[in-house]
Amino acid sequence: MLIFTVVGARPQFIKAAPFSRALADTAHTEFLVHTGQHYDDNMSEIFFQNLQMSAPDVNLGIGGGSHASQTAGMIVPLEDLMITHKPDVVLVYGDTNSTLAAALAASKLHIPIAHVEAGLRSYNRKMPEEINRVLTDTLSTWLFCPTQIAVDNLVQEGMTEGVHQTGDIMHDAMRLYRDIADEQTTIFDSIPVDKTTAYALLTTHRPANTDSQANLTAIAEAISTLDMPVIFPVHPRTKSAIDRYCITFSEQVRLIDPVGYLDMLSLQKNAQVIITDSGGLQKEAFFNVTPCVTIRPETEWVETVDLGWNRLVDPTVEAIHAGVREALTTPMQTPDSVYGDGYAAQKIIAILEETLST
Ligand code: UD1
Ligand code: UDP
Repeated sequence: MLIFTVVGARPQFIKAAPFSRALADTAHTEFLVHTGQHYDDNMSEIFFQNLQMSAPDVNLGIGGGSHASQTAGMIVPLEDLMITHKPDVVLVYGDTNSTLAAALAASKLHIPIAHVEAGLRSYNRKMPEEINRVLTDTLSTWLFCPTQIAVDNLVQEGMTEGVHQTGDIMHDAMRLYRDIADEQTTIFDSIPVDKTTAYALLTTHRPANTDSQANLTAIAEAISTLDMPVIFPVHPRTKSAIDRYCITFSEQVRLIDPVGYLDMLSLQKNAQVIITDSGGLQKEAFFNVTPCVTIRPETEWVETVDLGWNRLVDPTVEAIHAGVREALTTPMQTPDSVYGDGYAAQKIIAILEETLST
């Protein structure tokens, strides 16, 4: 098999790493295209180093811009590359503009699409990701679902063929890199907390929070007045918004540049509580047995809430403080295997082999 994989954004490098490693143990070939959606070294290159991945075969260099210009800008060069390389499968991860661009290009060329992280829904069409994932699922031949709820979502929409529950590939990444993270992290040398300090970790990058002055100001005030220091690796979208709205923080908040995956895993594991609007962090908090407060009205990762590890809060000072209090006092069930066994990549490869050989 020639698998044409398309990645572009930070979480996709993390999802691609376990798959590329598993594929390297087979006779199959991968052609890895980076759309360039994320391009700063600490949003892109650092992940290829941390995850010991080969450099992408091609980087299209298409980052920034509006949704339409970004997505459209990716489709034409992706189509050219697909025509040249004639892959057996186009493989995409998650729900970014890079995911949708690759799915649109492949579908018109009648190349079967494998969608990893299929079936997730927020049922909130104001999120660009919801549009991307619904369309990508519709176009895909293989729908590799991380959870039973994702399978059920697809069934509800009438999609049953090619649907497989494989577990979550981010669990694979956690299995592969968790120990290395603990050994190799140097992040605690450069921040005012150590592994014994009770601190909170914050990330936020969703447009609903960062593109609203009121919401971002409330988040800043909430973490500035929390009962513990806060470490805040700042996404570039968020950095622009903080500058644009002239938002300030108290001294207990340490804003840092985005960090690599290994530092991030270590920051999560040692935090008292994680406050976030990230999809990936909600699950990593769960894997790391760290309680989580999610500043969103809904989540695709409902299992983390159902099992008591995560709660959804509004972007207000009171709600965030109440969420943190609850996170620190509510008994939680031991994380179980709702996200699979950490071998999703091997299952995906086996299913692709089986279908393509018949
Ligand atoms: C994107 C994904 C989102 C995902 C997130 C992961 C879409 C619609 N959104 O959101 O689902 O959760 O990535 O982090 O695909 N920028 C830089 N340097 C970079 C990367 C981005 O300065 O390395 C700037 C861009 O110029 C852009 C802004 O940050 O103006 C947002 O980047 P973009 O990739 O469009 O969206 P994200 O918010 O990162
Ligand atoms: N991450 C990271 N460094 C950071 C912030 C996030 O390595 O400074 C990792 C995080 O551990 C997770 C992934 O990036 O694996 C999540 O990406 P993000 O929150 O940007 O996107 P989402 O998951 O919301 O799509």
